[in-house]
Amino acid sequence: MTELISDKILVDTGAKDPAFSAVYPMLETDMPLWNPTSWTQGHPYALYEQMRSQAPVMWSQMRGEASSYWSVSKYDDIKNVEQQTNLFSSERGGMNMAVPARKDWKPEILIRASMDNLISMDEPKHMHMRIQQKDFFIPAYVAKLRENVSQKVDSLLDDLEAKGPVLDFVDVFSNQLPLYTLCEMLGVDEEDRQQVVHWMHYLEMAGQFLTNPFRTFLSEPMFPFRFKRVVEDMFAYGAKVMADRRINPREDLLTIIAHSQLDNEDLPQEYLDGSWLLIIFAGNDTTRNSLSGTIKLMTEFPEQRAMVLSDPSLIPAMSDEALRMVSPVKHMRRTATEDTELNGQRIAKDEKVVMWYGAANRDPDIFPNPDNFDLTRDNVSKHLAFGYGVHKCLGQRVAQMQLRVSYEKLFERFPNIEYTGKITYAPNTLVHAISKLEVNLYGQGKTKPIQVSVK
Ligand code: HEM
Repeated sequence: MTELISDKILVDTGAKDPAFSAVYPMLETDMPLWNPTSWTQGHPYALYEQMRSQAPVMWSQMRGEASSYWSVSKYDDIKNVEQQTNLFSSERGGMNMAVPARKDWKPEILIRASMDNLISMDEPKHMHMRIQQKDFFIPAYVAKLRENVSQKVDSLLDDLEAKGPVLDFVDVFSNQLPLYTLCEMLGVDEEDRQQVVHWMHYLEMAGQFLTNPFRTFLSEPMFPFRFKRVVEDMFAYGAKVMADRRINPREDLLTIIAHSQLDNEDLPQEYLDGSWLLIIFAGNDTTRNSLSGTIKLMTEFPEQRAMVLSDPSLIPAMSDEALRMVSPVKHMRRTATEDTELNGQRIAKDEKVVMWYGAANRDPDIFPNPDNFDLTRDNVSKHLAFGYGVHKCLGQRVAQMQLRVSYEKLFERFPNIEYTGKITYAPNTLVHAISKLEVNLYGQGKTKPIQVSVK
């Protein structure tokens, strides 16, 4: 029988001290990285800078029963961790910063699903599973998908125009496109898509609820009562559709997942749940925040925008440079499988290693003048926003395609779109979650230009 990762997972022991003495200082901070609230001002760039220069492999405290962990912030160190898959496992601790005791897994189906999936697997199982999904991530498929995505972008731009000139870009654009694209790939029927939007909204509120129940209560008083039900509905839907696809296959990703095998057996329900959760999560928030973050950056670096407007062939480079600057995924985690060493620091078996992509993407040894948006960098595509090595984002082509189509059409239609300065970041340790970004479609303080038709 296929083993479940969630059955073998290493639950946190609560260790607060490293097994081997810390070589680098533990930098004092009033915004611990494990705490979602610490992220409500965006990435902590000043802390990242200190970590890279003074404590590149830093022992970092965690609250309560969770074990403390090693924080890795230099570009080359992160690549090292990602490359040595035998030493740094994805499976022993999953991608969560902490794995609570089993009795605290609530709702259990959600916690298990966050482990029983591709991103939490080690070789050779991981590659075996990944390859089975490849047809939905190759250039030929992505080119086909591009046609529908282009049409969707056009209709979202119409919505922007109708609701503008000043509006929340996240609500009208960034929230919509990635979910549309995922539903197209997965094969979620048109009439079911609003439900997916609803489920995502609730799942994303979970982070806020854990850190600030009172605020969640104010914005959504019924949240605690509805959350469990929403989670159950979401998994029941995925299970129903994949059971159906085993009997009535279609040309969609859910059919591929439903027919995938591990150890020569069909995937057990737990892996189907985990795969369903991984795809709708991995492809959603990430792309969304790249879109919103790029509009902010294009406002802050007007000379770079001017370059793109005069030469749209620069859009792919702009999109990559924006991914480096935004770093939509904040971290991934690995767990040491034996005693080892990283950048002079000894790390013991079973200790957690957390890779901070936002810090590595601004490592001045790799990206000189890293806080400057410069789409002409020689190594503009060498950022780690999609990770590195065998787990490097499976959906990167799908993501790049959506981003490029969006920027091409957006800048053609609203070349002066500007962020007004009003932004909100959700409390979230995993994704750089811009939950509101106010823009003016025609530039700060401007109104829609009057169009005069010439007969
Ligand atoms: C800008 C958008 C995106 C960013 C920044 C992003 C980032 C990442 C990162 C950092 C990882 C982990 C890599 C590692 O551990 O080395 C990852 C994995 C993954 N992503 Fe993405 N992602 C994006 C969009 C997408 C999309 C659109 C999809 C699906 C359509 C997707 C599906 C996945 C999957 C399935 C994995 C697991 C791959 C594996 O473990 O083999 N992602 N992504």
